Amino acid sequence: MEHLEGKKALVTGAAGGIGAAIVRQLRAAGVNVAVADRDVRGIDADAHLPGNLLNEAYADGLPRAAFESLGGLDIVVNNAGVITRGKVTETTDDDWKLSLGVNVEAPFRVCRAAIPIMADRGGGAIINVASCWGVHPGPNHAVYCMTKAAVASLTQCMGMDHAHENIRVNAVCPNEVNTPMLRTGFAKRGFDPDTAVTELGKTVPLGRIAEPEDIAEVVVFLASDASRYMCGSLVEVNGGKAVG
Ligand SMILES: NC(=O)c1ccc[n+]([C@@H]2O[C@H](COP(=O)([O-])OP(=O)(O)OC[C@H]3O[C@@H](n4cnc5c(N)ncnc54)[C@H](O)[C@@H]3O)[C@@H](O)[C@H]2O)c1
Repeated sequence: MEHLEGKKALVTGAAGGIGAAIVRQLRAAGVNVAVADRDVRGIDADAHLPGNLLNEAYADGLPRAAFESLGGLDIVVNNAGVITRGKVTETTDDDWKLSLGVNVEAPFRVCRAAIPIMADRGGGAIINVASCWGVHPGPNHAVYCMTKAAVASLTQCMGMDHAHENIRVNAVCPNEVNTPMLRTGFAKRGFDPDTAVTELGKTVPLGRIAEPEDIAEVVVFLASDASRYMCGSLVEVNGGKAVG
């Protein structure tokens, strides 16, 4: 990918399905990557920054820590996320706090800290992993959809507000992706994940749900100069399957 060699990136949720693919692809493009997650042992990376994004000081400090470990910061990928299921009437206070904390407050804190660091260096790219459900809400996941809509809106606002500093903020909005998040959801509801993933694939016009690499490739594009005129875009990656 164009002009990525030697760039420095921070990726949150790096131990998860999509996060691991983003780390692999950025590194394959020559990017030095700092990985953040609760447990980052065993991940091939250039810096390891383990911690809990619900810890405010950790989230606030991640961009500076990445900058110091890598000797720069050009790309930030806010990928960590949690999914809570159910209607509002089924949502507990703990679900609310967890979802808002990981999906909205942490990206807010990371972006707020990263933007001045990037501005001082002449610019950068931030990519938030939202969801197609943040753009078109789906059933029975009210708080999850709301958090993804919040991060989508924040992306659009930051995309406008920081373009003049040469900081491009965009979001990728996947539909279903074959990751632990999706598979554990099936298992919890008593379905065999492999069978459920195959069945779900039949509902997608392209014939399969996304693999993490399908999403990571778009993240790498948004990190690169190939997307140099994109600011505040919400890029849906859905194999032709609209929410419905
Ligand atoms: N899988 C899908 O179908 C799908 C669809 C649309 C959007 N997304 C979004 O993609 C992103 C990645 O999801 P995934 O499917 O790879 O899920 P995943 O569960 O495999 O990975 C999520 C990662 O986030 C980390 N994380 C969660 N809470 C954390 C915390 N408090 N502190 C630090 N790290 C924390 C987890 O440890 C995990 O490694 C999420 O933002 C998710 O909402 C996923």
